Amino acid sequence: MDPARFAAELPGLFDDFPGSEHPRGRRFDDVIAGVPNLAMENNLALVSLAASLLGTGESYVEAGTYMGASLIAAARGNEGADLVAIDNFRFGPMSVEGRSLPAANRAALEANLARFGVGGATILDGDAVATLREGALAGRSVGVFYYDACHDYEPQLEALRLVEPYLAEPALVVVDDSDWSQVAGAIRDYLAGQPRARLLVEVGGSDAGQPQWWSGMAVLAWGGV
Ligand SMILES: C[S@@+](CC[C@H](N)C(=O)[O-])C[C@H]1O[C@@H](n2cnc3c(N)ncnc32)[C@H](O)[C@@H]1O
Repeated sequence: MDPARFAAELPGLFDDFPGSEHPRGRRFDDVIAGVPNLAMENNLALVSLAASLLGTGESYVEAGTYMGASLIAAARGNEGADLVAIDNFRFGPMSVEGRSLPAANRAALEANLARFGVGGATILDGDAVATLREGALAGRSVGVFYYDACHDYEPQLEALRLVEPYLAEPALVVVDDSDWSQVAGAIRDYLAGQPRARLLVEVGGSDAGQPQWWSGMAVLAWGGV
């Protein structure tokens, strides 16, 4: 993983970063339309770019997969990548931003992955913190860790700490919904206590007047510094 390359290439995905409503290259509007999700196309483009930069033998791991939109984005154009999804499937049904979101469901996730041609992903059914703590990633070198599971302060912070032993050198850690105060606080406190990580990119979402980025994203660079 090359964090500097990620930071350099991200703006180039858009005509006017971060203001563009959509990426200009590889598109994800079909995923947004076809899979219940909590994202915008721009968020998926960012995830896809991160996954495209995985080094040989590195894995993409996400906590918080729901119906698969972010995982499909990670897979798109990145055939052969080792993909891992952690989810406890305890979300919804609910309505968010006018979107009617059905209850999380593993069978529906698997059907969505199959429909979008994503095969071979490892799905770990369980609490993200417990799954990481139990060593479920043993033997993997995680080039990208994307966190979009429980955004309460404690589990968010704990997940960032627990994934460290499995991160590649260097790696990217993508945190979704960084507009939210509990998420921002966890990132701030994590970085304050971990000199091996640094804030690489932060894109504000709705709270920053950029709903095209949902609730914002923060990308941390791990190691290699
Ligand atoms: C915001 S949704 C993920 C959206 C997804 N990334 C997308 O692109 O549409 C959050 C997901 O995290 C899962 N989740 C919530 N708390 C969790 C936890 N403690 N451990 C594992 N998964 C959790 C929920 O079941 C839900 O599927």
